[in-house]
Amino acid sequence: MTPTLAPLAIPGGIMSERAATGTTSTVPQVVAQGQQVVAETDSGAYVAEVEGKLSVGIDFGTTFSGVAFGSNRNMNGQIRCILSWPGSYETYRKVPTCIAYYQPTPSSEAVIVAWGIEAKAMTLREGFFKVEWFKLFLDPTVLREGRLASSARLPDLPYGKEPIDVVTDYLSCLWKYAKERITDEIGSVADLEAADVILTVPAAWDAAGCQMMRTAAIQAGMVQSARGGDRNWRERLRIITEPEAAAIHASTLSNLLNLRPSQAFVICDAGGGTVDTAAYKLIGQLSNLEIAEMCARTGANAGSLFIDLRFEALVKSLLRNHPVHLDEASLLAFRHAFAECDKLLFSTADDDTHFRFNCFNIEDAHDPECGLEYGELVIPGSVIRRDVFEPVVQQVLDLIEVQLAKVPTTHQGVQALILVGGFAASEYLCSRVHETFSARIPVIAKPRDTDVATLQGAARYGLGLIGGKATVSSVISPRSYIMKCKLPASDEDRYQRPGFIVRNDAGIEVCENRLSYLVAKGAVLRKGQRLRSRYCKFSRSPQDSVFTAVLYVSDSDKIYRYTDEGPIEELCRWSVDLSALPSWARAAESATGSFWVEFDLALVVDSAEVLGVLLTDEGEEVGRAHFEYLGN
Ligand SMILES: Nc1ncnc2c1ncn2[C@@H]1O[C@H](COP(=O)(O)OP(=O)(O)OP(=O)(O)O)[C@@H](O)[C@H]1O
Ligand SMILES: [Mg+2]
Repeated sequence: MTPTLAPLAIPGGIMSERAATGTTSTVPQVVAQGQQVVAETDSGAYVAEVEGKLSVGIDFGTTFSGVAFGSNRNMNGQIRCILSWPGSYETYRKVPTCIAYYQPTPSSEAVIVAWGIEAKAMTLREGFFKVEWFKLFLDPTVLREGRLASSARLPDLPYGKEPIDVVTDYLSCLWKYAKERITDEIGSVADLEAADVILTVPAAWDAAGCQMMRTAAIQAGMVQSARGGDRNWRERLRIITEPEAAAIHASTLSNLLNLRPSQAFVICDAGGGTVDTAAYKLIGQLSNLEIAEMCARTGANAGSLFIDLRFEALVKSLLRNHPVHLDEASLLAFRHAFAECDKLLFSTADDDTHFRFNCFNIEDAHDPECGLEYGELVIPGSVIRRDVFEPVVQQVLDLIEVQLAKVPTTHQGVQALILVGGFAASEYLCSRVHETFSARIPVIAKPRDTDVATLQGAARYGLGLIGGKATVSSVISPRSYIMKCKLPASDEDRYQRPGFIVRNDAGIEVCENRLSYLVAKGAVLRKGQRLRSRYCKFSRSPQDSVFTAVLYVSDSDKIYRYTDEGPIEELCRWSVDLSALPSWARAAESATGSFWVEFDLALVVDSAEVLGVLLTDEGEEVGRAHFEYLGN
């Protein structure tokens, strides 16, 4: 990926400060493997300020959404889910992600008439729109190309409504209702107004999707200024990835408590729309459990919804010569019967079972050739397995396989695979996962309430923020990030790479194509931590302020000295403009000819992206570039 902003370029390359002035050490700043570094930038001050506050987790799912909350002050760290929803006296841990509008003519405004269970149960009439699966609009492929990579089609929206409007409308309804329920339970409105709200997003989403989600949540009023002078109120909205939230929940499971520090586990969050996988490593002591993300995430649209769509395609193909059974109402009835019942119970032992579905229309009731038997469509379990389940489940298995391959061998392999998400309740999926991975992974487990693992983890993350513990506060550098630079030539360079030795503009003999490690693969870093390295640039004149920093990455565990030495590849070029630095401006002003300027560049590895930043001597950021987005 090409960097987006411009801060360094070197007429003769960059050097470490000491190297440029000719002193001895040329050792680049490398964080050794496994070594933990104390955070330079952390949200510490913020954490102290919010001690004792309420945390609300929101899981906005493709098919179902939920709200959980917890407070260290009056709930003793316990997490509770909202269980009752408008439109039903029964309790449900989540509510359908569905909203209904009334819009009599395309030019009139679409008015929300129902959401959740009530919207899902609505029978459509002229002028009504029932919108589901709208989370898929924020998928990176849809945002880039306007269409889904998979076979699902995007829902029709009322005229004049953009996807983000529908997300905002739904979140507004969900939030308004959740506020009432939470206030009922904790009895304090003030706590809620100052609550941390943690919103989860799929691992595969890029920055654009996350930003849209943030905008929608703020428009929905999920966070707002709680009092005069509350300038940081937007920061109370946190966005974390779904597998990260699930990992936090999983860390409370007894299966995982058998793991030892430094062991790794993979989370597979199989939901309605997406399946996300991510790898984590336990660090620190069990008494103060901490998990670090291994910066290796994979996701795809391979959720349980795609089983429903494949079932519909199968029905259409079986009944292609009986169009009377293929009108919208008939297809809906078939899909409904399958998705609400047979799909949920389908297992690997069902090959010889015959699944029977009532036809909605009574005409053209019998044709045993295609499975029509006196008004029922009969489909053998083996066909459902082959055409409906197996292609989707195989995609999930492939995703897990890709994830396992991403975990570096230095991490003693993966000790546990944790299945979460509604789809993880599928016996068929779980059996296939066991069949495929049990020889390689000692523990394969799923929490009891798989569908709310993400939700509960999100609320717990908020409590972690408050109490300052047991969250995914660290990341493990997925590979080495390296800067190409020029360093004063040593005897070793003269012997090893005589062709790289040149005399630079300042008359110093330097070795070109040397590597300066900003961070080594496997280093455990605090999220958002800046890893600073000091460099200097030789400028010929006050106009000569820009240089191009060439960034390399390496998947190898070895540390290399030269660009041509090992398996390293160029990641991007970062054009850095030093004129934003006060120290550069001062040096340029007083210089009569050429001059040297020292400066700090820092690398920041977050769970979703790797950034480069240009810093003043005081640590203030004056330029940045995105090096890459991690995940897929
Ligand atoms: N036993 C089961 N077998 C297969 N699918 C199941 C089973 N139980 C629930 N599901 C499916 O799980 C999905 C709901 O799971 P979940 O609530 O985790 O998804 P979501 O959060 O809406 O989606 P996503 O996280 O992908 O955005 C539904 O599609 C439901 O049909
Ligand atoms: Mg989900």
